[in-house]
Amino acid sequence: MKESKKIDYANWIPLKVALAPGLTGGILALLFFLSFLLPSGLLITVFQVLMAAAAAFCLLVFGYLICARRLLSYQGGGIQGKILDNVLHFLSWDGNGQLLDIGCGSGALTIKAAKKYPQAHVVGIDYWGNEWDYAQSQCETNAALEGVIKQTSFQKGDAAQLDFPDAHFDAAVSNFVFHEVRSQPDKLALIREALRVLKPGAPFAFEDIFYSVKHYPDLDALLAELSKEVQELHFVDTRQNNFVPLLLKTPMVAGNMGLIWGKK
Ligand SMILES: C[S@@+](CC[C@H](N)C(=O)[O-])C[C@H]1O[C@@H](n2cnc3c(N)ncnc32)[C@H](O)[C@@H]1O
Repeated sequence: MKESKKIDYANWIPLKVALAPGLTGGILALLFFLSFLLPSGLLITVFQVLMAAAAAFCLLVFGYLICARRLLSYQGGGIQGKILDNVLHFLSWDGNGQLLDIGCGSGALTIKAAKKYPQAHVVGIDYWGNEWDYAQSQCETNAALEGVIKQTSFQKGDAAQLDFPDAHFDAAVSNFVFHEVRSQPDKLALIREALRVLKPGAPFAFEDIFYSVKHYPDLDALLAELSKEVQELHFVDTRQNNFVPLLLKTPMVAGNMGLIWGKK
């Protein structure tokens, strides 16, 4: 858990995730060089080839993740912020009432929404597990530093079982969260849970890695089912966003992005 007195939205590629292949690659490279101390032979040569290939692969992944982090970061390419602005771009809302941000992480989208809709109250929920460098206190600090503390609130919760009554919110957003939710492998049920807390006719914009077959094995069926349950439903292939550099359009980062928006 982080305590910070600076605005800190963290990075979608946590440093520990980027460093892991770097460290592994370094160890494999060391083993490769140490192997030259051993007497030569076929087995040793095979070992050296395998070590060299594995080290090169790990170091390439490490280099890629470091570049991707830089492009995503607010201090670097700023792509994280642009992707979040794009989610709000598809939310067709007048800004009156309460908006829910599901899986708010460091509060970046919640805070952007609060700034875009000064009349609104914006609620961010997240379960803030150990996998990410995010915390509720970090969201609150960010909101205070951005001047929207009174307009926002943050609470711990599970996207699979939202702690709100039916038809409670006037709008909802979510970005890169649904595929992470382990407590609900059925993604249709998860989206239905998000829609449950919306008032009839309320707008929503949900981005996720909808093109990941692992998480969404039948996207067309999911969209067809959802479209029967809401007043309006659209799907946008956000892989085509031209503000996202080609280097980030890989399955490891933003290569499977899609966005569902509409009105309940
Ligand atoms: C890739 S991060 C995205 C954070 C934020 N939406 C953003 O765009 O910056 C995924 C987030 O989903 C949250 N998350 C994962 N499973 C969750 C669950 N069951 N309920 C609520 N949040 C969850 C994680 O804690 C993490 O903050």
